[in-house]
Amino acid sequence: MSSGTYEFDDRGRKLFKPDVPSFPTLDEVHDLLDPAMASVREFDRRLGAWNREAAVGRLFAGLDAVHSSAAEGSTTTFTDLMEYETSLRIAPNVDDAAVVAAVADAFQEDAGDGLEGLVLRIHRRLFERARDKMVAAGAGKLKTRANFVGDPEFPEGFFGYTSPSSLADALRNWREFTLAADPRTSELLRQLLSHWMFEHIHPVPDGNGRIGRLLVPIVMKLKGQTTMACTFFGEAVHEEKAMYFAALKDGRITGRMTNYARQMLAFVRATAQANLERMDKLQALEAEWKSHFASFRSDSVVHRLVRYAVTKPVFTVNDAQAQLGVSYAAANTAAQAMTRAGFLAVPEDVKRDRLFHAEEVLAIFDRFRPQSLQVR
Ligand SMILES: Nc1ncnc2c1ncn2[C@@H]1O[C@H](COP(=O)(O)OP(=O)(O)O)[C@@H](O)[C@H]1O
Ligand SMILES: [Mg+2]
Repeated sequence: MSSGTYEFDDRGRKLFKPDVPSFPTLDEVHDLLDPAMASVREFDRRLGAWNREAAVGRLFAGLDAVHSSAAEGSTTTFTDLMEYETSLRIAPNVDDAAVVAAVADAFQEDAGDGLEGLVLRIHRRLFERARDKMVAAGAGKLKTRANFVGDPEFPEGFFGYTSPSSLADALRNWREFTLAADPRTSELLRQLLSHWMFEHIHPVPDGNGRIGRLLVPIVMKLKGQTTMACTFFGEAVHEEKAMYFAALKDGRITGRMTNYARQMLAFVRATAQANLERMDKLQALEAEWKSHFASFRSDSVVHRLVRYAVTKPVFTVNDAQAQLGVSYAAANTAAQAMTRAGFLAVPEDVKRDRLFHAEEVLAIFDRFRPQSLQVR
C-alpha cells in the first residue's frame, strides 16, 4: 500500500507528498481507542468542573507545552516556565522560555478563519521574536525551501518533506480530511491521522512538531469532542520520542496506519491518565491547605491566596496582590502565613528571592525537579 507519492524538484531531490491516509479498521484499534477517548473525556470533564477562570487548564497547557518543546530540544522546565510567567520574567534561558510560553498560549487559538490560517498564526507566535532575523522574518509564513530529516534508509541520507510547490495542494487535502465529519469514523483517529499527514507535509521551516501537537487538541475542541483543548500527547512524545518518530515513519513506509494509530492512541491515553492523577493530587493538596487554615477568619486573604497558589505555583507578592485585588501588605501577610505553614518557600538566590514557590504544586507537575528542592 502506498502512503503518498515522491516528486522530484528542479535539483533532482526526492520529496514526499502524503496521500489522505486510510483509517485502520476498528477491530485493529478499538482496545486502545475506547480507553484513550474515555481518558480524554474524563480529563476534559474534570477540567471543566474545576475551571477557576481557565487557570487550571492553563496550568496543564503549560505542562504540555514544556514537554512538547522538550521533545524538540528545549531546556525550559515546568518550574522555569512558571518563574518566567511571573512579573519577573526570569528563566535560565529567557528566549527558550518565551517560546515555550508562546506554545502554551497557543492552546487558546481557534480555527475560526480556517486551518491554514491557524497554522500560520501559531507559527508567528513561536518565531516572531526569534533573534535570528531570517527566522523572525519567516514567522507566520509557509516554507519556501524544501526541508528534510536525516534518514539512513535513503541513499542520500535524507528524507524530504513535501515540496514548497506542492504545498497548496497537499494542505488542501489535509484540510479537507481534517475538517471532514463522518459519523462512522472516530474523530480522535481522524485527528491523529491528520497529524501524520501534517508532519509529512511539514509546511513551515521549523516548529512543525510543536504546531502539529497543538492542532490535535485545538481541532478536537473545534469538532465538539472536548470542551477544552486538552487532547494532549506532548508528555508521552517527550518520553518516547524514538517510538513516536518510528511510528510516523512506519505509516509512510507500510502505507498502513494501524501501528501509527495504536502508538498515538497509547500516547494520548498515557498523557491523559498522568494528568488525571495530577488533578487528583492537586485537589487533595488544596483540601489539605484549606483545612490547615480552617481556623483563620473567613475574610482572611490567606484563603484566597491558597486558591491562587494552587494554580499559580510561582508568584511575587505584587503578582498575588494584583490578581487578588488586595493591598501589598495583606498579600504579603498571607504569603508569610503560607510560608510559615511550609506551603510556600522562597529560593535563596538573589535573582529569585522575590518569588514564592508552592513546591508541592511544582512537584506534581515538574518531573525533572531535583528531589532536594521538594518540600516533602
Ligand atoms: N521521519 C519522520 N517522518 C515524519 N515526520 C517526522 C519524522 N521525524 C520527525 N518528524 C516530525 O517532525 C517534527 C520535527 O519537526 P520541526 O519542524 O523541527 O518541529 P519542531 O521545531 O517543533 O520540532 C517531529 O516532532 C515529528 O513530529
Ligand atoms: Mg525544530
